[in-house]
Amino acid sequence: MLSRNDVCWCGSGRKYKSCHMRYDERLLEFQSEGYVIPSQDRIKTPKEIEGMKKSAVITKGVLTYLEGKVIAGMTTQEIDDIVHIYTTERGGIPATLGYNGYPKSCCTSVNDVICHGIPGDYVLQEGDIVNIDVTTILDGYFSDSSRMFTVGEISEKAQKLITGAYNCMMKGIEAVKPFESIDVIGEVIDAYAKSQGYSVVRDLGGHGIGLAFHEDPHVNHYKNDYKGMIMVPGMTFTIEPMINEKDYETETLDDGWTVMTTDNGLSAQWEHTILVTEDGYEIIT
Ligand code: MF3
Ligand code: CO
Ligand code: CO
Repeated sequence: MLSRNDVCWCGSGRKYKSCHMRYDERLLEFQSEGYVIPSQDRIKTPKEIEGMKKSAVITKGVLTYLEGKVIAGMTTQEIDDIVHIYTTERGGIPATLGYNGYPKSCCTSVNDVICHGIPGDYVLQEGDIVNIDVTTILDGYFSDSSRMFTVGEISEKAQKLITGAYNCMMKGIEAVKPFESIDVIGEVIDAYAKSQGYSVVRDLGGHGIGLAFHEDPHVNHYKNDYKGMIMVPGMTFTIEPMINEKDYETETLDDGWTVMTTDNGLSAQWEHTILVTEDGYEIIT
């Protein structure tokens, strides 16, 4: 336990009483109410946040670079090639490549694929919707983001799902506030998704990120009764709701990665890496 006049644990060099003392007291109150509180190493230093932001320049850069380039007749492997070249030319490493044996530099999830689609020989067709999910490591710092891409003319129901999923992500992001439970994110996403007639995937969620690909905490995108982790300034995690046109259930293919809907309904997803700030949030990606 630090006493009032000790130097704060956060590395600011300031006295504990004028730095994180009040903050720690508040967290202990939450803990006594049964909430999970973040350990000190969940709080990123200014240097670590800077590193993540530089990594994010590549992540958002490649997604923006892909806008307009995802067209009928191309393979998902060609998307992967673009991500690989763009990332490595800028000194980054695609975090997915070799991650638990995953073979490619991004994920390409088409139509009823919920996430973790593996780029390959599939030829994109007019009307397809594709989530491209990119994670970059730069100087050891991770950033993770995904967007939806459309191939030519798409159906009205597909466009509505894409927009609905984007709104779900943004509503989740806007719910980020220090000293609130992380579960408010799932609450607002679930409520909005339901209001649009959609379901929210439960088997996968967002995750802490920064010095590793997947850190604590897990971020649920659906309403639940857990008392989740309390959000505090300096925490970084992803919000990446997977929104299904029909049922939220998932099925993983024999390749060990590709996660699909079980009823062939469409699925859409958007993802940002978020920093909790003193008064809300900052989108890193
Ligand atoms: N980028 C994905 C996420 O948002 C994770 C992909 S892991 C992979 O968490 F191995 F499937 F690529
Ligand atoms: Co992620
Ligand atoms: Co991702």
